[in-house]
Amino acid sequence: MKELHPITKAIRLQTERTQEKEHSTPLFLTSSFVYDSAEDMGAAFSDDTLDVNIYSRFSNPTVDEFIAKVAALENAEDGVATATGMAAIFGVFMTFLKKGDHIVSASAVFGSTHTILTKYMPKWGIDYSYFNMNEPQSIEALIRPNTRMLYVETPSNPGLDIIDIEYLAAICKPRNILLVVDNCFATPAVQQPITLGADLVLHSATKFIDGQGRVLGGVVVGNKDLIKELYLFIRNTGPSMSPFNAWVLTKSLETLHLRMDKHAENALKLAQKLDGHAKINWVKYPFLETHPQYAIAKKQMSSGGGLLTFEVKGGLDAGRRFLNALELCSMTNNLGDSRTIASHPASTTHSKLTEEERLSVGITLGLIRISVGLEYVDDIAADILQALDKC
Ligand SMILES: Cc1ncc(COP(=O)(O)O)c(C=O)c1O
Repeated sequence: MKELHPITKAIRLQTERTQEKEHSTPLFLTSSFVYDSAEDMGAAFSDDTLDVNIYSRFSNPTVDEFIAKVAALENAEDGVATATGMAAIFGVFMTFLKKGDHIVSASAVFGSTHTILTKYMPKWGIDYSYFNMNEPQSIEALIRPNTRMLYVETPSNPGLDIIDIEYLAAICKPRNILLVVDNCFATPAVQQPITLGADLVLHSATKFIDGQGRVLGGVVVGNKDLIKELYLFIRNTGPSMSPFNAWVLTKSLETLHLRMDKHAENALKLAQKLDGHAKINWVKYPFLETHPQYAIAKKQMSSGGGLLTFEVKGGLDAGRRFLNALELCSMTNNLGDSRTIASHPASTTHSKLTEEERLSVGITLGLIRISVGLEYVDDIAADILQALDKC
């Protein structure tokens, strides 16, 4: 049979069928694996290259199935799954950076990533420099002889800033700098950073990959050599993915493309409805022509994804009133769910930032982030419009 399309692989890749002849993928909920003889057990421990399961912190068939599917979707050779998205990010930093190294990162990164970069890395002798996602031309001046990694989220959380991955790859390749992309907002159904020149791509699988707000997970994909180094770090330090979570996530990948198409269709319709509304200053969505990086979004994303932001007039109080007036949409800090979620970063997730820090990552007092779900779009719009009337 000819090579299958990644969409088919996300549905059909499966651990070898057991003697029970199951159709759906089985769950190998086991912490360890047995051997036929003492010699086999000895070989499993003495030869790293043997493809044999020993212990689920090291490998597990259900987890391996999930990794193989994400690698296929991301056009990557191999991957490692982790307990959370943050374990994936931390694992990448710890594996590929050492004392004396320097990392260049977009300042618009997820809050906990910002905490690792600014609070912990300096403590371990790893220096960082931030650049503004809207000023990619400032990156080259930040690079030093000891710069080892360039790190971005595109689209960023929650600002939805977008950066040209091919442009970043052209900066990194000749200098031997690892380009790492957090692809959580787009998912591989919308954007494949490795095809555009990234070295490592990572995800909080907790978000759209799960898609129904059930489990936590993370995954990193890249070439075999990089992944082997990362695998050894994760295997020895312990933030491995649970087989149960891998089973939920591997089943979710079967519908990823279908879901992302619908998230994007609903989000675009909602963005168009909100554009020009009297109670808001602006709407931001990657596939709205008014998005500052619309041209880049069109070049590297196949849809605008499932998130949009807007700014309510009236700042912090209006943002709170908007959330309180919602009747259908959920008030929670997760995203990438079949249920539409609204959040107000300035009064919640980012309330501890100074005004300068908040504004530098595009979070104004009235900013509302909507993770657009799969409900009937007119119902989502009606709830948001009635809440806007009340704020
Ligand atoms: C862009 C992005 N990266 C990483 C993370 C961290 O993922 P997790 O919560 O699974 O650790 C998040 C969580 O919201 C995120 O939005």
